[in-house]
Order: sequence, then C-alpha cells, then structure tokens
Amino acid sequence: MANQKGGVGKTTTSVNLAAALAAIGRKTLLVDLDPQGNATMGAGVDKNNLGGRGGLEWLQNQQPFAAVARMTPAGVTVMPANGDLTAAEVELLAARDRTTRLRSRLGAADADFDYTVIDCPPSLNVLVLNALMAADGVLVPMQCEYFALEGLSALLLSIRGIRQRGNPTLQVEGILRTMYDPRNRLSRDVSRQLLAHFAEQVYRTVIPRNVKLAEAPSHGMPATLYDPRCQGARAYFALAAELTRRREDATARTNGAGARPW
Ligand SMILES: Nc1ncnc2c1ncn2[C@@H]1O[C@H](COP(=O)(O)OP(=O)(O)OP(=O)(O)O)[C@@H](O)[C@H]1O
Ligand SMILES: [Mg+2]
Repeated sequence: MANQKGGVGKTTTSVNLAAALAAIGRKTLLVDLDPQGNATMGAGVDKNNLGGRGGLEWLQNQQPFAAVARMTPAGVTVMPANGDLTAAEVELLAARDRTTRLRSRLGAADADFDYTVIDCPPSLNVLVLNALMAADGVLVPMQCEYFALEGLSALLLSIRGIRQRGNPTLQVEGILRTMYDPRNRLSRDVSRQLLAHFAEQVYRTVIPRNVKLAEAPSHGMPATLYDPRCQGARAYFALAAELTRRREDATARTNGAGARPW
C-alpha cells in the first residue's frame, strides 16, 4: 500500500483489506512499515507495549518472525511497528542490503501466507523502497481531490526504477479511490480523469467516505469487525473480492488452468 501523499487512506485500506481477506479465508499477514504505527494500533496491537519485539528488532535480525508477529481478533497476523522503526530507517541507509532487507527477512515466512499487505509511510524513503522490492504489486489508494494525481507520476517512476533494480515483476496492482463522496463534483471529475488515464488499473470498487472507518481504529479493530454492515466495511469486502478475483484468475491462467476442457 503506497502513496507518498499523506492521509489518503493507506492505513485504513491496509487494515480493512487485510481483515476482509482473512474473513474470506485467505491467510493474511499485515506488515506495518510506518513508524507512526497506525496500522498496528488499528489492527488491535498496542504499539506502546511491544516490549522489544517489534518490526525494528525483526528487521535487524534480533528477533525471529514467530517472536514478533501476532495473531489479531480479525484473524490477521500482524508484524507491528512503532516509532522505533525510524532507527531501522537510519541503519538501512548505511547497510549493504539497503533495499532488500525486508524481502530477505520476509523470506520463508511470506510463503505461509496467501496475502501479505505492507502498509507504507507517506514517503518514498528507504522503508518504502524495501516494500517495493519485496512486493508483487503496489496498491495505490487515492483521494479524489485536486492534487491527487500530482504524486502519482513520482510513484510510478519509482516503481519503474525498482523494476530495473531487482524486482522486475513489480506491478501496479491497482489504483483505489478512497473517501469518495459522489455528491462532490470534484470527486466525480477526478474519478473520471483517473479512469480516463489508468482505465483497467483503477479498481471498480470505490471506498466511500464513512465515519465508521474513521471510528474503528479508536476501538482497536478493523471496521470489518467493528461494524461489518457499515458502508465502509462492505466496500472493503467488495475490494477483497475484486482483488482476489483479479489475482487468483491471473495465477490460474499462468498455471495453465486456463486450458479448459470445453
Ligand atoms: N473512507 C474513509 N472515510 C472516512 N474517513 C476515512 C476513510 N479513510 C480514511 N479515513 C480517515 O482519514 C484519515 C487518514 O486515513 P489513513 O490513516 O488511512 O491515511 P494514510 O494514507 O495511511 O495516512 P498517512 O499518510 O499519515 O500514513 C484517518 O483519520 C482515517 O480514519
Ligand atoms: Mg498510514
């Protein structure tokens, strides 16, 4: 989940999409790669009480995956983070495996999960580069407002750079319209522009502005648990369905399952 613009819904999408994927039976890991620790708290893990067992220690190879990752009530395994993660950022800048640390640390653990969701900070810093090196795809949450498209070209350039520098199959998984208000004309105009420029890459699912999505983190749970019937939760269930359909159909095709007998 990446967009260097702040407050566009990366964390809300990470937490709720991960929970929705778990709810439909996919084994899901949520990696909080933001020192703000918002995804950690939103998923129900207290970032102030990690007791030396957080993303920093894991990334620095001082703790194994199993000692740090926790299961949450939504059925999502969470790799938690807090402000300590800024130390990893500093250390990585001088490290030889500067951009590949996350990929190698995820290593075997990643294979135990159907989906790994990585919540990035609002930046294009070394932590984000680690996420891009480790990922198959980038989901870009976007708020349909005037400056929304501005950061997108820089992000797309970074993705191209990462493809050349060690992750050749990295894709734009999809662009997600968040906090959408259909009564707002600007929202509709920007949405239309997105569809015109990026067509198939834009998810059909739209995440509406919904207060339950903003409230749920203060109760330490995804909206999909806090109020599964609210509009926001329903939208994230729909996104999980759309994403799995796209991904798993594509996997089936590359595995030759497309050669149907009829
Ligand atoms: N669909 C929505 N409806 C209403 N409020 C939302 C919605 N999505 C996100 N919010 C709220 O908007 C704020 C920003 O969302 P969020 O934290 O998910 O963005 P972010 O991109 O992760 O931010 P940052 O760049 O700081 O990491 C939060 O207060 C969140 O609760
Ligand atoms: Mg965030």
